[in-house]
Order: sequence, then structure tokens, then C-alpha cells
Amino acid sequence: MRAILLPCAGRLGAADLRSFDLDTSPRIPRSPSRPEGPGSLLLGIESSCDETAAAVVRGGRETLSSVVHSQASLHAVHGGVVPEIAGRSHLEQILPVVDEALKRAGIELDAIDAIAVTTKPGLIGSLLVGVSAAKTLAWTRGLPLVPVHHIEAHVYAAAMEAPDGERPYPCLALVVSGGHTAIYRARSETEIEWLGATLDDAAGEAFDKVAHLLGLPYPGGPSVSRLAESGDAEAIRFPRYRHGGTEPAFSFSGIKTAVLYHLRGQDALAPTPPPEEIPDRADVAASFESTVVDVLVEETIRTARAEGLSTVLVAGGVACNRRLRKEMNERGGRAGLRVLFPSPAYCTDNAVMIAGLGFHLLRAGRTAGLDLDASPR
Ligand code: KG4
Ligand code: ZN
Repeated sequence: MRAILLPCAGRLGAADLRSFDLDTSPRIPRSPSRPEGPGSLLLGIESSCDETAAAVVRGGRETLSSVVHSQASLHAVHGGVVPEIAGRSHLEQILPVVDEALKRAGIELDAIDAIAVTTKPGLIGSLLVGVSAAKTLAWTRGLPLVPVHHIEAHVYAAAMEAPDGERPYPCLALVVSGGHTAIYRARSETEIEWLGATLDDAAGEAFDKVAHLLGLPYPGGPSVSRLAESGDAEAIRFPRYRHGGTEPAFSFSGIKTAVLYHLRGQDALAPTPPPEEIPDRADVAASFESTVVDVLVEETIRTARAEGLSTVLVAGGVACNRRLRKEMNERGGRAGLRVLFPSPAYCTDNAVMIAGLGFHLLRAGRTAGLDLDASPR
């Protein structure tokens, strides 16, 4: 058996472990006490990128607690996520965050029925922190361990908030985050098929890079969006990627490069001007945002029609974007589609979506042993 990495190794002291009252004598994993009942309590752990998160969710839907520690301020000076800094911060935060999630839920670890954890995709050093913590807790408490795919959990975040507990399947799902922009067909919570993705940058990545060019803080999505509110979205015509293939596809690097050329006065060798010397900064932000949104909305509607699906889920950090929410709802509605977004707190990385999807995976028997590993892809 592969060695279990204790999440505190070399970083946290014995006091941190004591706060979890860890009993290190190995126990035989027990089967979930109420695998199908609405009372199944899952602890979810998420550490794939720059948020350390833990949540307690009952029956896949009822959130008892959700704790998210954002590393945004640590990465802001670098204009993007630095993997080594991310991994180190996860190590420091993982135990306090799990502890806080249990405390806010008003329960002890003993009340938990299973532990769900993000195993892929993401930054490998960051994923390993969450996976190691989950394995350690599962082993010491004899709990089932449920591996969760981060992107599938984003899709679930939109489904879990469907009105009246409805299950909106089959449906199309657009996941737009900092690392991914892809379209899936979802047949159920646990059956998700990849249909197509960006050929280059993810939409969130393009927001982050354009924010950097405009001298705006990381993460770029919210800051570009805020500046865009005072700009004219029609002021600049940035190129839109249109592809003729049947499979869905996106491209955002051309838009980002067009912003760069616009700022440099079409001279590739010129330096990017400082923010105070960009007279149409808000117009650039608004025109860029509307171009990205237009590309996302058009390709999603086209794919929904081609796949014969009438419900669309939109998830991931960029799904917080107000223009995207408005246009997808309006244009999707005109195309006869029903569009579901998660509430903003569940668009960005969180552990509620991990514990929520984990419940359905547990019911489907998709648990793992202590040889569970993380994977960047
Ligand atoms: O899903 P997420 O929290 O992490 C990943 O799995 O990548 O997404 C983070 C991304 C970042 O690129 C951030 O700039 C973007 O979501 N984002 C937004 C907005 N809020 C966050 N993009 C556009 N508009 C927003 N309001
Ligand atoms: Zn994410």
C-alpha cells in the first residue's frame, strides 16, 4: 500500500492534529450508515487550485456549512496562481478549514458518513494536500472515501440548486473557469460526457490576462467586470472565433492578443502602456467582456440545438459574470432553452459541490481505497 502522507508533515504542530482529536489506530472501513437516506452527511474537501475549502452537506443538497479560504491576496502580486505558494498555503489551511466546517455545522467528525475529496484536475501539489487530509481522516475514522472530479462537481453545483429539488437531466453543461472552458452532456449527476472545449486559453484565464494588461488586480474576472460597467461594450470590435466544425470549440487567445495590440497601438514591439495612459480602459474592459460572453453564449446555444437538449447548466468561476448570466438567460430563453446558474458562492471553487456530488457517487458505489491518488488532468 502506498504510504499515507499526513497533511501536517513538516508544517503544522501536534496541536493542530490534536484539535481534530485524531485517533491514529487503523480501523476497518465501515459501510456508510445511511447510504441512501436523506440523512447521509458528507464532508467535502477541495484544494485543486487557490482555494482551500471544506463543507458539510446532507443528502447531496442541504448545506450545513461551507468554509472557503481564498489565496487570492497571496497570488495577486504575481498576477496569477503560483503553484508552490498555493501548495504551501493549502498545507497551512487544510486542518483549520476542515475544523471550522465541522464546527459551523455543529457536528463532530464522528457524525460524518463519508469523505469526498477533489482528486483531479488541478495543481498536483495542491490536490495532494486535500487528498492526503481526506485519506488520513477516512482511515482514522473508518469512513468511505469518495474521489470527485472537480469539473463534474462544478456541473453539479448548477444542478443542485435547481428549483423544487428537480433533477434537470439530461442537459448541456458549460463549465467556464480559470483553468477550463468546456461543454458536456450530462445524463445524470454521475454520467457526464465531454463534447468539446477551448482550443487555447480558458475564458477565466483570458479575463485574468486582460486584467493584468489593464493594470487590474487578480483575479481578473471580477475586476474587469467592475470596470466594464462604466465602459461602452460597442466601442471596440475584437475578433470573435467562429469555427465550422460540428464539435463545440472555443478560442480566447485571439481576443486577448487583440486587446494587447489595441493597447500597444498595433505595434507588437511597443511596451504595454501603464494604466493611467490608457484613455479607453473601461471601453476595452467592456468590449472584451462582451466579446467573450458573446462567444460563450453563441457556442452554447448552437451546441444545445445540435444535441437536442433544452436545459443548459452554466458553472465555474466565470459563471459569476453578470453579463454572461443576463445574456445566456435572455438569448437562451429566446432560443427556447431553460438556463440554470448556481448562486455566485457556488460558481467559484467551493467544497459544497464536492460533498454534494460525493453523495451521488457514494450511492453509485464509486468509493476508493487508501491508494487513492491525485492527478493534474
Ligand atoms: O472555478 P474557479 O473558482 O477556479 C477554477 O477552477 O479555475 O474560477 C476562477 C476564475 C478566474 O479566472 C476568475 O477571474 C474568474 O473565474 N471569475 C470571473 C468572475 N468571477 C470570477 N470571470 C468573469 N467575471 C466574473 N465576475
Ligand atoms: Zn473550479
